[in-house]
Amino acid sequence: MSQLNTDIPKAFQIENTLEQEHYLVNGELIHWKGTTADVFSPIRTANANGDIEPTRLGSTPDLGEKEALLALDAACNAYDKGQGEWPTMKVADRIACMETFVEKMKTKREEVVKLIMWEICKTHADAQKEFDRTVEYIYDTIEDYKQMDRDSAKFEKQSGIHAHIRRGPLGVVLCLGPYNYPLNETFCLLIPALIMGNTTIFKPAKFGVLLIAPLIEAFQESFPKGVVNILFGRGRAVASPIMKTGKVNVLALIGHSSSANALQALHPKQNRLRMVYGLEAKNPAIVLPDADLDLTIEECLAGTLSFNGQRCTALKVLYVHEAIVDEFNTRFSKKVDALKFGNPWEEGAKLTPLPEPNKPAYIQELIDDAKEKGASILNSKGGETTDNYIFPAILYPVTKDMRVYEEEQFGPVIPVIPFSDIDQPLDDMAASNYGQQVSLFGKDIKTLAPLIDTLVNLVCRVNLNSSCQRGPDVYPFTGRKDSAVATLSVHDALRSFSIRTFLASKDNDYNNTILEELLDSRASNFVSTDYIL
Ligand code: G3H
Repeated sequence: MSQLNTDIPKAFQIENTLEQEHYLVNGELIHWKGTTADVFSPIRTANANGDIEPTRLGSTPDLGEKEALLALDAACNAYDKGQGEWPTMKVADRIACMETFVEKMKTKREEVVKLIMWEICKTHADAQKEFDRTVEYIYDTIEDYKQMDRDSAKFEKQSGIHAHIRRGPLGVVLCLGPYNYPLNETFCLLIPALIMGNTTIFKPAKFGVLLIAPLIEAFQESFPKGVVNILFGRGRAVASPIMKTGKVNVLALIGHSSSANALQALHPKQNRLRMVYGLEAKNPAIVLPDADLDLTIEECLAGTLSFNGQRCTALKVLYVHEAIVDEFNTRFSKKVDALKFGNPWEEGAKLTPLPEPNKPAYIQELIDDAKEKGASILNSKGGETTDNYIFPAILYPVTKDMRVYEEEQFGPVIPVIPFSDIDQPLDDMAASNYGQQVSLFGKDIKTLAPLIDTLVNLVCRVNLNSSCQRGPDVYPFTGRKDSAVATLSVHDALRSFSIRTFLASKDNDYNNTILEELLDSRASNFVSTDYIL
């Protein structure tokens, strides 16, 4: 989509580029004098000469091994073998730092939202939602951590041994987020990792990187030095040397299993590495013959095409019972063709430009391959291509030999598979590399009950008559096989980024007197039965 700058509403115009010249290491905003990486929006606008081209938004430092290892040193020093200010700090004080941060973050809403729109082309409403959801996640995390602290503010006694059990930090966490939720998903790793007392190094995703810039000072001002280190650059140049040192205790990554596997393999002692991963998926919808088609079509539309299908939770293959598949296909095709493509600020735009420059060509490859092997495009606009977009194509009938059956498309193309025997989708799911979620559409409980009982063992969330999604964030977000390692949710993430650790003491007068003195004096931040209301 091409655009003259004057067509863009004032509030969304890019008046100045953002040249991010600093990165955050050891509490200092270090000025970078080396090479930089230009950041472009997929949205084309007229440049100074009137040529229409991808809009240049700014640049970020292209850091390398030296800077990466300095950030690692800073994180290790801040952890200081468990003696650092941050890992030993009182819970209430760590929470106070987090509260300071979130207040400062909130003042940057408009700037960040605008960058989400330009960098990855989320609609204005979705970009606002991403920001607000992240703020809410931080508040919910603080509340959950308080509850965790209340629950552990006590002593237990078993077999003559008193125990004071809490959850403690793991050490240094390397956080890497994805481009589709560059703020939310990265912070859903970073925030729980921080609040549990770990120290962190964080590198923004390949796209959606400038939007972190307005928040760097808030990090610098809210946390002790070295607790949050922010790097820019390519994963291979920055994350790989850090992993090779063996000094990372937790690799927290939302992205593809190939990146996760490559990085974890660099750790010289893999048994020491805790992995917290949200990975790829190929969530299916199963549409039974008695499904309410109005509802099913609406949910499949949102499930397959929200943010152009660039969600790990997107519906990536639709199994539709052959008794209703023709009606489903006709009605679904009309709805897909009626979706409006436009720039993120345009009223009613549901489909927006794709941030990955090679994505339209990749989707076209999937379409060509499916067509060669016997599928057709059902909707009339399917496959229409512009500079930065390819209109969603509904492919039917899709078979297992097609690439679109196997590969996670992460973009606008929708494979539909007809079935007559319910064992077909079940067997396919069992054989699949993925196991995140499924959407099940139907009504008859005699059919649904045994299906639910099986599906919960193949994936980790069965969505009854609704599309798949991560939220609400208090619910567990995980997956089987190549779809995840560990569980994220407001509560589970606090567990994923910590370990149970405790003080044990035999029940005798000598020890009991010491315990009482420890408690009365409030000299220890760990041994404490105080709690925050
Ligand atoms: O990319 C995967 C996201 O976790 C999806 O989250 O279901 O809220 O869009 P969502």
